[in-house]
Formats: sequence, structure tokens, C-alpha cells
Amino acid sequence: MTARGLFVVGTDTGVGKTRVAAGLLTAYGRLGHRCVGMKPVAAGAELQNGAWVNEDVERLKAASTLTAAEDLVNPYLFREAIAPHIAADHKGAVMEVPRMRAAYEALARMADVVVVEGAGGLLVPLSATQDMADVALALGLPVILVVGMRLGCLNHALLTREALAHRGLDLAGWVANRLDGSMAAYGENLATLEGRLGVPLLADLPFAPEASAERVADRFSPKRLNRLLFT
Ligand SMILES: Nc1ncnc2c1ncn2[C@@H]1O[C@H](COP(=O)(O)OP(=O)(O)O)[C@@H](O)[C@H]1O
Ligand SMILES: [Mg+2]
Repeated sequence: MTARGLFVVGTDTGVGKTRVAAGLLTAYGRLGHRCVGMKPVAAGAELQNGAWVNEDVERLKAASTLTAAEDLVNPYLFREAIAPHIAADHKGAVMEVPRMRAAYEALARMADVVVVEGAGGLLVPLSATQDMADVALALGLPVILVVGMRLGCLNHALLTREALAHRGLDLAGWVANRLDGSMAAYGENLATLEGRLGVPLLADLPFAPEASAERVADRFSPKRLNRLLFT
């Protein structure tokens, strides 16, 4: 069986991509699928027991049902928590999309579901000519858009939707993640996006500064998740 994958894109950095990716992995795991998370590019690492680790990568690994080699799960890791192409420049590294694709394909051979988390927003650069959208395209994956629900998110979400369409990427669904607990007119903002994004709202995540992957997984409909990948 060939693995299916999803590519998680956010309206910005810090909007809940990792939270949603870990929740999706947990939810698919509960459905009995062999799942593994992937973070092709991570910027920001700390030294733990002699190894450089990135928090997102650790959270994705914790939510995966399969264990895979580190360089497949996270082909590119930079210590500096800055834009990845600048971090790469600083150490004279070049990010190669074909290497990311090879890593994804290796993961896809061992899993039923691969959930890939981008870095930053959709058009975060990787080099002078490439960006995160090129990674989603190279992996050939449908996109799940995480909208960080706060003032300004309508514009960010609709810009991302246009960019996805422009680049030929398939938006399969979106997740509303309430970053601002006191956002005014929440329901109307949600309804505006439901109308304009035109794809299924997979989950509406409440404001919760700390939420386990289990709690996030509870917010997804198992039926809908199965339909998303296995029909
Ligand atoms: N629903 C939410 N309610 C409150 N705070 C949230 C919520 N989702 C995310 N956050 C906060 O935003 C931070 C970034 O979330 P994360 O999933 O790591 O985003 P990304 O992967 O897009 O950078 C979290 O550590 C948390 O503090
Ligand atoms: Mg993240």
C-alpha cells in the first residue's frame, strides 16, 4: 500500500502547524494507521544530552506511531531560529528539494500516513529561487491550511489560498486555530473563511495555550479524516 501524505501549511509562523500536525498524526494513529511526521526544514535547535534537537521535530516524533531515521524525519536542521535560507547561508549549506523528496518517499514506503509540517508560511524562501511551496509540490501532497484565528487572519488565509491556487497546489481542508481567546466576532470570521476558502473545515480548535496532541485529535472527525486520504 502506498502511503498518503498531507502537507500542513500555516498562515504564518507560530499559528499552530505543529499542534495540528501532531493532532492529525494522533488521530490517524487512533484509526489504526501507521503514521509518521516529517519536518523537511527546521530552524532553531537546542543542545539536549549532547544532540541538537528541534522542538517541532520532537513533537512530531512523539505523535508518530512509527519511529524513523532522524535524517528522513528532518533532512535539514539549523541551529539558528531564523529564516531557513538565511540560517543555511550562515553555515554555507544548500537545501535540496530532491533530498527532501527522497526522504519523504522513504517514509511513505514504511507508513500509511505521512504528515509533513512546513516551516513558517507557504512562501518562506529556501534559496534564491525556491520556497516552501516547491517542497509541497515536489512531494505532490494536498495541503491542510492552519489559520491562526486572530485579527488579520482573513487576509493571511485568503492570500495563502490564492498563492496555493497560483502554484497549482490542492487545498484539501483547513483548520481554525483560535490563537486569540478574546478575538471579537469569532463566529463571523469563521463563517467568512468557510465561505471563501471553499474547502472543508476539519477542526475548530479552541483557545488553549497548552493542549496535548490527544486533545487536538479529539476535535477531528475520524470519518472525515479517513475520507480525506482513503477514498
Ligand atoms: N489554540 C491555541 N490557543 C492558544 N495558544 C495556542 C494555540 N495554538 C497554538 N498556540 C500557541 O502558539 C504556539 C505555536 O504553536 P505551534 O503549533 O508550535 O505553531 P507553528 O508550528 O505554526 O509554529 C504554541 O506553543 C502555543 O503557545
Ligand atoms: Mg511548528
